[in-house]
Amino acid sequence: MARNAKIKASSKPLLDGFSAQSIFEKDQGITYKDFLLLPGYIDFAPQDVNLETRVSRNIKTKIPLISSPMDTVTESQMAITMALMGGIGIIHNNLSIEEQAKHVERVKRYENGFIPDPIVLSPRHTIADIDAISEKFGFSGVPVTEDGTLRSKLLGLVANRDVDFEHNRSLPLSSVMTTDLVTAPKGVSLVEANEILRKSKKGKLPIIDKEGRLVALMSRTDLVKNREFPLATKDDLKRLRVGAATSTHPHDRERIETLIQRGVDLLVIDSAQGHSRYQIELLKELKKKYPQVDVMAGNVVTRQQGEALIKAGADALRIGMGPGSICITQDTMACGRSQATAVYFTAQMALKHKIPVIADGGITNIGDITKALAVGASAAMCGSLLAGSKEAPGEYYYENGVRLKKFRGMASIEAMEGGGGAKRYNVEDQKIKVAQGVSGAVVDKGSLFEFIPYLMQGVRHALQDMGHKEIPSLHKALYAGDLRFEPRSLAAQAQGGVHGLYSYKKPMIGAE
Ligand code: IMP
Repeated sequence: MARNAKIKASSKPLLDGFSAQSIFEKDQGITYKDFLLLPGYIDFAPQDVNLETRVSRNIKTKIPLISSPMDTVTESQMAITMALMGGIGIIHNNLSIEEQAKHVERVKRYENGFIPDPIVLSPRHTIADIDAISEKFGFSGVPVTEDGTLRSKLLGLVANRDVDFEHNRSLPLSSVMTTDLVTAPKGVSLVEANEILRKSKKGKLPIIDKEGRLVALMSRTDLVKNREFPLATKDDLKRLRVGAATSTHPHDRERIETLIQRGVDLLVIDSAQGHSRYQIELLKELKKKYPQVDVMAGNVVTRQQGEALIKAGADALRIGMGPGSICITQDTMACGRSQATAVYFTAQMALKHKIPVIADGGITNIGDITKALAVGASAAMCGSLLAGSKEAPGEYYYENGVRLKKFRGMASIEAMEGGGGAKRYNVEDQKIKVAQGVSGAVVDKGSLFEFIPYLMQGVRHALQDMGHKEIPSLHKALYAGDLRFEPRSLAAQAQGGVHGLYSYKKPMIGAE
């Protein structure tokens, strides 16, 4: 009794777990799987969590998600979707200057509901050509123009019902197309076009200019699907925002100039090891010549590397060397850093300069996105997580009954032979190319219009569990030592996953 009385409760509140500093300042690199965050206090709902962030000095987004500049991840369709959903996409540079600029332009010109570059055929094409298009894209109506291209005179429209019962598939479209058309003039507003479509009861509404040339198409199915995108990432002129990748090579100065002329919002200097004379010189040059365009520099993993790029003018840092799903850099080059450690240290340094850091690579699920934010990142850049979606480039194919899409590292032999990957890894002119990435496939993830809200709802729940309503408050707690971490043994990791079941149904990708 007397002994018990001596054990006095400390007046200090007991804090379980450890601060980030004590976790990361150890002699071993840490990845997302190596730790957990301890829960905080909840007095709000997940929908009260605001995921607004900054992806560069001047660009704000409503969700902390960026799609990687990889040729199996981001072209215009992905970038449009990312921007509509509140993030941003970075168009890869394994393309000619003109091709890449066209993708940028498509994003900047995108208007919700209009199809700016529909598939078009000529009257000399046959029903068999329509069949081939339907099989590939599942389209139901194709406009027919004089020479089979956009901006040529509109002659008719072929819908499924025009060709469904026709036995002779080699008939030219001129003999089956509908010529009694309802059209709308160029410049029509979305609301007006919607109204015309509704009244006409047609499936497709061609938009034509004064000379009767086709400039865009609107479809009833899109109209039905058409939703508002309150989170969309837009510039001052209400156009969607887009990023594009470039190398540091002198011959890419023309690329940069063209991308800027076409309206790119964020230039990403794409390099596997960004701490170089080339990148520092390019950054200084860009900031002098085009101060209005934000530049994301990288990739870096140490404070020294990051600070040098910030001093040269970087508006954001891209962090990661080796954590990517397709990446073999760490094994091949013996160089790199465990991703959570890399993000923690670089973010801590960049905070002093008010520059956001982007956690690039190794994000496999909702938990990893959250952990990247929790160790200081302002957003996560994802390749494999978004690849395999309907909006990623490439066609679906089947292997053993599973629907897949191709996904490859930009330093895989295949991608390097395409050009862009080789620039990223500085091996463009070299005869012997050492691959730092592999080429493979990922499963069909469906459309990002469903997948991204699902991922973000997961992140909102995760932040709620930690007791934070927004990313800046999470970062404040991180640096104050109030956000508590706990290392995770291998046994703890095994226990944290599904175990002891004979069988179970896997959750949606991203929650595993
Ligand atoms: P993921 O999200 O884990 O698939 O990683 C995507 C990131 O991997 C990209 O944003 C790049 O930083 C990086 N990356 C892309 N291609 C390669 C490669 O071939 N080798 C190593 N890293 C790559």
